[in-house]
Amino acid sequence: MNHQLRADRQLQEFKALQVSEGSEGEYNAVVVERSVDDLPQGDTLIQVNYSSLNFKDAMSFSGNKAVTRQYPHTPGIDAAGTVVSSADAGLSAGDEVLVIGYDLGMNTSGGFGQMIRVPSEWVVKLPSGLSQKESMILGTAGFTAALCVEKLLLNGVQPSQGRVLVTGASGGVGMIAVALLSKLGFDVVASTGKQEAHARLTELGASEVVDRNVLGEENTRPMLKEDWAAAVDVVGGDTLSNVIKSLRYGGSVAACGLVQSPSFTTTVLPFILRGVNLLGVDSVQLPIETKRRLWNKLGAQWKLDQLENICTDIGFAELDASLAQVLKGGANGRFVLDLNS
Ligand SMILES: NC(=O)c1ccc[n+]([C@@H]2O[C@H](COP(=O)([O-])OP(=O)(O)OC[C@H]3O[C@@H](n4cnc5c(N)ncnc54)[C@H](OP(=O)(O)O)[C@@H]3O)[C@@H](O)[C@H]2O)c1
Repeated sequence: MNHQLRADRQLQEFKALQVSEGSEGEYNAVVVERSVDDLPQGDTLIQVNYSSLNFKDAMSFSGNKAVTRQYPHTPGIDAAGTVVSSADAGLSAGDEVLVIGYDLGMNTSGGFGQMIRVPSEWVVKLPSGLSQKESMILGTAGFTAALCVEKLLLNGVQPSQGRVLVTGASGGVGMIAVALLSKLGFDVVASTGKQEAHARLTELGASEVVDRNVLGEENTRPMLKEDWAAAVDVVGGDTLSNVIKSLRYGGSVAACGLVQSPSFTTTVLPFILRGVNLLGVDSVQLPIETKRRLWNKLGAQWKLDQLENICTDIGFAELDASLAQVLKGGANGRFVLDLNS
């Protein structure tokens, strides 16, 4: 869909979710009218049409100071929209763009508002193969899934080597990792805590769906039976420990998340006896040229057909409840926020 710029007055005043800290340390979120004059410095003003919900947004929404130091604040680490004005010669009014990561939605007013102002170095032109909405169905979660998959491929992982595990598979990163790995010909095993996600994960290409409790329990043995050629892990904690211990000889795990715990334990044995690889993945501070290259791939040879099937559409009215659901690990696919709703 081609989005028209809103009328002038609506470009000056805009609607946004604002989270405030109360005197008792509690956090309240309300939809308010804000002024463009209150947005942070930046050379590019963007009218936001779509955003999406990520685990980090739920943390910011709940007052997690490791994500957002200063309140009142408008969260939203993802935004897709239309350039209103830019000092960058490469960007013109009307260009369709997206922004993910860097400081957006953390301490810079984010995509849960109809306008953002950011440095042009954060801006990606919308790939020709994606609509604004599709780019937000992917969002940071989908982009991170793609980064994980690309890292595994760069480390030599191939479909012929055996099964690939995806943890937290009903969440945003997990679901898109399942779909992408399956599209690339891998035999994908999805780990989830949600019975109701099984059918969708199978539709996305998982050959087997396993209960996350099996992988998530503490196990003090230094090594486990070899199973996975590779894994995408969004969970961390004991799950990541067990995944490392059960990688096949030379296997790799791309680790990007911490929903179970940021801490995990391992000995060096899987590394020195099986030559396994632990690959760190960060989508936030990645150089913009890498972001632009991978977004173009997601709009072309890595374009997923099933994006609408994993999307729940929400407006401002559903934002609070949806963020609360994500915070308690209840995501089932991707929530996309329509800022014009
Ligand atoms: N490194 C990066 O750049 C980067 C980028 C994006 C996201 N992340 C991180 O990746 C993680 C996932 O992000 P997301 O956007 O996919 O989140 P999400 O949509 O909220 O999904 C997280 C999934 O993890 C599983 N889960 C939740 N609590 C769990 C627990 N206690 N133990 C085990 N599994 C649990 C659930 O799936 P099941 O019920 O299916 O198990 C849940 O749906 C988060 O930690 C996020 O911060 C990192």
